[in-house]
Amino acid sequence: MKRIFVSLDESRCCARNRAPTAESRIIWEYLEKGNISPHFDKMSKRWLKEHFTDQYVKRAQESGYPSRAAYKLLELQEKDHFLKLGMTVVDLGAAPGGWSMVARDCVGKQGHVIALDLLPMDPLPGVTFIQGDFQDEEVLNALLTEIGDRPVDLVMSDMAPNISGQKSVDQPRSVQLVELAWDCARRVLQPGGTFLAKIFQGEGVDDLVKALKNDFQTVKLRKPKASRSRSAEFYILGIGFLGYTT
Ligand SMILES: C[S@@+](CC[C@H](N)C(=O)[O-])C[C@H]1O[C@@H](n2cnc3c(N)ncnc32)[C@H](O)[C@@H]1O
Repeated sequence: MKRIFVSLDESRCCARNRAPTAESRIIWEYLEKGNISPHFDKMSKRWLKEHFTDQYVKRAQESGYPSRAAYKLLELQEKDHFLKLGMTVVDLGAAPGGWSMVARDCVGKQGHVIALDLLPMDPLPGVTFIQGDFQDEEVLNALLTEIGDRPVDLVMSDMAPNISGQKSVDQPRSVQLVELAWDCARRVLQPGGTFLAKIFQGEGVDDLVKALKNDFQTVKLRKPKASRSRSAEFYILGIGFLGYTT
């Protein structure tokens, strides 16, 4: 029996969100036939099963979105209509590009989408990409240079920390990542602008929401259907940034 020894890196959140690759499909076919290494870990099996039976993965593949995550933004947009023609949008943690594609299509040719990620991303027409950690001064400067004089209407972050599998580690990291994303966002967001960020439910979330309520006219919490129900993730949407007078 032919065996393959591949372990998918569950901690790579973007890999989990991606539409199926040829490589992962081959692994799935081996798995279905039972021709798989006994060392193949349970998490990877579950990930593959979900990946190839998930309606959003299938829809992403059919529609040409590089990730199932695109459907989360489409749902949020359908409900709250925060993406509009002509807007300038910053997409933090953009790879492989599902959200950037949705944003680009909503803002149209007069708009501007600047995507940023630690990982490389295939070029997307109409989207400017910066590779790096948004917390690095150099990367932030590259972002500020790209933004130039344009008033930023929306900063969105689908970033997640590297998942360790331990809630006590991952959940506080997720809250911290949103705090840092908000620190970055408020440097560029114009008054009246919108902030959207993924966060994991748990300690620190209520305080963060309370703090954001001081900065926005409205703060909404959303859990799109495309977000798996077993996942602790949900989205914070701040509408109408009040800006700062200092
Ligand atoms: C869930 S994926 C984003 C999926 C994307 N919204 C889409 O629709 O295709 C999260 C991304 O956040 C990125 N990320 C996490 N921490 C980051 C950081 N400090 N700076 C830049 N990108 C980061 C990861 O590399 C990963 O690609």
